[in-house]
Amino acid sequence: MLIFSLIWTLSVLLTEIHSWGFKNGIFHNSIWLEQAAGVYHRESRKGRYQLTYKEAKAVCKYEGGTLATYDQLEAARQIGFHVCAAGWFDKGRVGYPIVKAGANCGFGKVGIIDYGYRLNKSERWDVYCYNPNSKECGGVLTEQQKIIQSPGFPEEYQDDQICYWHIRVRLGQRIRINFLEFDVEDDTDCLADYLEVYDSYDDVSGFAGRFCGDYLPEDMISTGNVMTLKFLSDASVTAGGFQLQYSAVNASLFPQNLQTGPPLIT
Ligand SMILES: *[C@@H]1O[C@H](CO)[C@@H](O)[C@H](O)[C@H]1NC(C)=O
Ligand SMILES: *[C@@H]1O[C@H](CO)[C@@H](O)[C@H](O)[C@H]1NC(C)=O
Repeated sequence: MLIFSLIWTLSVLLTEIHSWGFKNGIFHNSIWLEQAAGVYHRESRKGRYQLTYKEAKAVCKYEGGTLATYDQLEAARQIGFHVCAAGWFDKGRVGYPIVKAGANCGFGKVGIIDYGYRLNKSERWDVYCYNPNSKECGGVLTEQQKIIQSPGFPEEYQDDQICYWHIRVRLGQRIRINFLEFDVEDDTDCLADYLEVYDSYDDVSGFAGRFCGDYLPEDMISTGNVMTLKFLSDASVTAGGFQLQYSAVNASLFPQNLQTGPPLIT
């Protein structure tokens, strides 16, 4: 029964996420990270609604950010930040930003759905962080071309890293990823340390591959003008790390139905 209701809840959440559409060529989703707003949503590695207030603060701090304030969350919402998941924000408040009214999320309302200041800081929610600047481990990248490296590269990366790189190039462009060096702790299914590639602006939809070991992955080309890379290392064993280059390419040079040429992510 519990499993069933969990699956039901998840499917409602996913349906809600996927029912939302495109704006300026970007799919609105649980990690809609806009440099102008700098606000983003995170959940625990263990999944949804697992973070106490203290843990939530640590998640933001880890990525060089802080808990978002109500005003920052609202500013982000006004440019389209829409997430169907309650999270901690500044001063122990909990809520989530809704742009489009929906039956399954936000009680049909639009705005910050505010659960107020929680007296019990041991309650578990997701989190809304604020970080207007990208840092070495992850960030928002809008340049036409850039090298992305595991933290500390060419030194070995550390344990317990989690980095998200959200790449966005111009509308009508696509992103080509070219792996230069790759050495990530190897294990079957890459459950310990890994680099994941998503053909979208978040790590929810468009999963395109998970990589570990020391085999250099093939080049990849996005289908749209956004892409997300996620690097995660666990609490033991590290390795040399990775280095890759992304570059914006003219989409018309890589039509979707091209049979030859670089592999397409579908
Ligand atoms: C606070 O929340 C936690 C997690 O939901 C719960 O286990 C605990 O009993 C709550 N404490 C109080 C005093 O309500
Ligand atoms: C992209 O390709 C189209 C069609 O070949 C061309 O008209 C356009 O100028 C190109 N844009 C860039 C930035 O190269």
